[in-house]
Amino acid sequence: MREQSLTTEHPLLRLPEPLLAWYRANARDLPWRRTEDPYRIWVSEIMLQQTRVAAVLGYYDRFLAALPTVEALAAAPEEQLMKLWEGLGYYSRARNLQKAAKRIAAGGGQFPDTYEGLLALPGIGDYTASAIASAAFGKREAAVDGNVLRLVMRLTDGHDDIADPRVKKAVRAQVQAVMPETAADIRIFNQATMELGATVCAPNGPPRCMECPARDLCLGRLRGTAEELPVKGAKKPRRIEERTVFLLVRQGRIALRKRPGTGLLAGLWEFPNVEGALDEAAAGAAVSAWGLEPRAWESRLAAKHIFTHVEWHMTGYTLEVAGEGPADFVWVDRAELEGRAVPSAFGRYYTEAERRLKEG
Ligand code: ADE
Repeated sequence: MREQSLTTEHPLLRLPEPLLAWYRANARDLPWRRTEDPYRIWVSEIMLQQTRVAAVLGYYDRFLAALPTVEALAAAPEEQLMKLWEGLGYYSRARNLQKAAKRIAAGGGQFPDTYEGLLALPGIGDYTASAIASAAFGKREAAVDGNVLRLVMRLTDGHDDIADPRVKKAVRAQVQAVMPETAADIRIFNQATMELGATVCAPNGPPRCMECPARDLCLGRLRGTAEELPVKGAKKPRRIEERTVFLLVRQGRIALRKRPGTGLLAGLWEFPNVEGALDEAAAGAAVSAWGLEPRAWESRLAAKHIFTHVEWHMTGYTLEVAGEGPADFVWVDRAELEGRAVPSAFGRYYTEAERRLKEG
């Protein structure tokens, strides 16, 4: 790893002043930036893990309206929690959020106000602990996410692999060293590095250097390397899983079942499905194996869903069936379907099921 010392020439040293001025004039007005309530900031940071701001906005207000305090979250029924999270993905985030809320509520409702105390909660890693500690409590802790890594690597013309945890640690130390001292500046500093990384020193496409408050300090811009940075180690390709999904209609109701309590999409509702891309004959055999009798095949619908490590390639069949079916199938009408948390991996089938149930 290339060492970089913080000499007066180091571009990071000169970053805070123009950065904070730029942030005060240009930051997006986001709801979690209008509060110092640690609960509200915490919920935003968990939602924003792996999810874009635009996608989070609608969920955020609805979630806080339904569960306005850490006590309310601790006491929420699982179905309500999953329904509030439905479509955001990475549902273990919601479960960890509630686990942490229960712990906080049981301890008297006092939110941990240090990096270490926050880090000890489920679902909170290095980045999130720093983001909350600074924004809610004015603690001097650098929050370094992908946006900030990209920004720092371009600013310093750094070519180390940001997939390497040692590189991330070194960047955190560099940013920590230049963090401002006053609580007011600390509260916005992390937001500002993130904001610059997300909106100006953006991924996917050329950085908008002419809008950047650090354009005169940025070694990546001055040396023409910004666009190739950061260097990121090759990721493992995603595993492809073929599945066959069934919209089984019986007397105006459709079959759902609950996924297992652990693993991908744990505890959420799904349309019955099996491994493999089955043709109609094999699909018929699968339906029979559930003790159901296929009556009329109605449609076939392909869909794809991309998770972090897996891709589902799905073949779907809508069909009328008769018979009892397995004990873990529940047969729902349209209103009952809409009351259950079905993950967006099944989105195409969910829409199809709604349409089919509306038609009756
Ligand atoms: N991504 C992660 N945390 C964020 C925040 N507080 N504001 C905007 N984007 C973010």
